[in-house]
Parts: sequence; structure tokens; C-alpha cells
Amino acid sequence: MKNEYRRLGKFKDSEFAFQTSWGSKVRQWLSDPVKTLRGADIKPGQTVLEVGCGTGFFTIPAAHLLGDQGCLVAMDVSSGFIEQVSRKVQLADLKNVRIVKRDALNTGLDTASIDKVLLFGVIPFPLLPLNRLLPEMYHVLKPEGTLAVWLFPPVVHLWVPKSILRSELFTYMNKRNGVYNYRRC
Ligand SMILES: C[S@@+](CC[C@H](N)C(=O)[O-])C[C@H]1O[C@@H](n2cnc3c(N)ncnc32)[C@H](O)[C@@H]1O
Repeated sequence: MKNEYRRLGKFKDSEFAFQTSWGSKVRQWLSDPVKTLRGADIKPGQTVLEVGCGTGFFTIPAAHLLGDQGCLVAMDVSSGFIEQVSRKVQLADLKNVRIVKRDALNTGLDTASIDKVLLFGVIPFPLLPLNRLLPEMYHVLKPEGTLAVWLFPPVVHLWVPKSILRSELFTYMNKRNGVYNYRRC
């Protein structure tokens, strides 16, 4: 499998650990994605945007939580991650996931079309500056929509929640299972 990724030239060696099943299993052992997702209070039938889905660590369990009537828009800017998550979704035979290769700073999604945005392990990230990302998330969220933020690793980025409040686009609701939840203003 490592050779396959090398052949595709999609990933750096340092990223490889999380591409493989052992990497994913170690991560699951360290932190249960379902428990984290429950902190975002995902409800069956919702339309959820997952920004920076990466290897799909949260994508598959999130799709299960949403159920057949829900829809998960799994977005990433990287072709390598998009290919990998597409394979995982196909293997899991999930019909409620829409995989989108796109820059989250300009999602192309309809205004007010999303119930919940997941920013899980994606901020702070140089390619996702909050001053551009938050207005786009505000734009795609429904008026009562919510933003769920999980920071990786949580301890070193305590300034992020403050920056979200400073944007004046979101109000703080609660923190559950390490997930900060905000409502669109
Ligand atoms: C640190 S990884 C986290 C992946 C996943 N959320 C997880 O926790 O396993 C960050 C992801 O964000 C994606 N990303 C970075 N900038 C992006 C952008 N502007 N638009 C969409 N995705 C982006 C990267 O390609 C990468 O998959």
C-alpha cells in the first residue's frame, strides 16, 4: 500500500502513518472518533459539511450518525485525500456521502444549505485562515446552523475559540467531548 501511495505521489512519508489502517487504528485507540463526533451533536437527517476530511477518520462514523436521510459533504482540497476517502466510502457502501474536491475558502455550496459545519483537526492550518474560512462557513450555514470545532492537539491552540468569537459571526454554545460548538449569529 505504501508503494501505491508513493506511486501516486500524493503523500509525503511523514503523512503515511495516518494513511494506513494501523495508523488509523492507533489514532482510534488514542481518541474515539464517534465520541468526539457525539460532542458535535450530529442529528440523523441533517446536512453536514466536513471541512478537510483528510483520510476519512471522522467521515465514515459521521455518515453513520447521519443515517440514510442525512447527507455528509466531505470536502478536501487534496486529490490524494479525496481518492482515499472515496475508497473508504465505497468500501463502507455509504450512499449519504457527497465527496467534494474543493477549497473550503470558496466551497461553491449554496447559501444557507448546511445544518452543521465540522472543523475537525483542520484549524489552525496555514491554508485555512480563519478570517476567510469563517465568513464562508457563515455563508453556507442555515440561519440556525452550527459550527463544531475540534482542535488537534487541543491544548496548544486555545486562542482559536477566542478568534471565532472575535469574528462576531458565531456565538459560543458549549464544549462537549473536546468539541467547541457555536451557533451562527
Ligand atoms: C490535519 S488534516 C485533518 C484531516 C481530518 N479532518 C482528520 O482529522 O483526520 C487537514 C486537512 O485539511 C485539508 N485542507 C487544508 N486546506 C484546505 C482547504 N483550503 N480546503 C479544503 N481542505 C483543506 C488538508 O488537505 C487535510 O486533509
